[in-house]
Amino acid sequence: MLKIGVLVSGGGTNLQAIFDGIENGTIRNTKVEVVISNNAGAYALERAKNHNVEALCVSPKQYESRELFNQALLETVDQYSLDLIVLAGFLVTIPAAMIQKYPNRIINIHPSLIPSFCGVGYYGLKVHEGALKRGVKVTGATVHFVDEGVDSGPILLQEAVNVHPGDTPKTLQQRVMEEAEWIILPKAIDMIANGLIRIGG
Ligand code: GAR
Repeated sequence: MLKIGVLVSGGGTNLQAIFDGIENGTIRNTKVEVVISNNAGAYALERAKNHNVEALCVSPKQYESRELFNQALLETVDQYSLDLIVLAGFLVTIPAAMIQKYPNRIINIHPSLIPSFCGVGYYGLKVHEGALKRGVKVTGATVHFVDEGVDSGPILLQEAVNVHPGDTPKTLQQRVMEEAEWIILPKAIDMIANGLIRIGG
């Protein structure tokens, strides 16, 4: 059984896709041990509680410095003997110490086809604003391992999504979630849990 921890910041629709995948059998041999948010008001924490999964908040606001927050986040994650950490809309930079401790054991979902519209400053709606401004006709989502750069780790899965005439950042965000994110994030977890993607090392 793959033990995963899911890190979230907001609404948690990708977290919901993971719970749904486990319940409907598209994600096999996987258990969500804990959900951690940097934001106490994140609806994702309610989703975790609704599934009887431990829901914790570790916020930078609770600590005097970034170093202390980073340390607390790592200590919290360490308590659960996780096989895999899933960033599902976690909009905080992962501490270097965590990346070193969990090499190729942290995956992230990003709402574009990396290497387009990624890196510093590209998160959430800003990604879709960038895509529309550039006038791309195809965008999508990417699941990748997290390394010490921003959105620079090895790519695991991608799914393309068409941009429609008249799209706004919000309509495009929704389509990218429905047609790509909520499919490839559960798929990547299932592939990892069943030995089709190797983690660690
Ligand atoms: C998702 O679109 C995810 O891809 C994005 O934040 C959103 C979270 O939504 N992540 C990033 O932009 C990471 N750079 P959710 O809370 O409903 O899953």
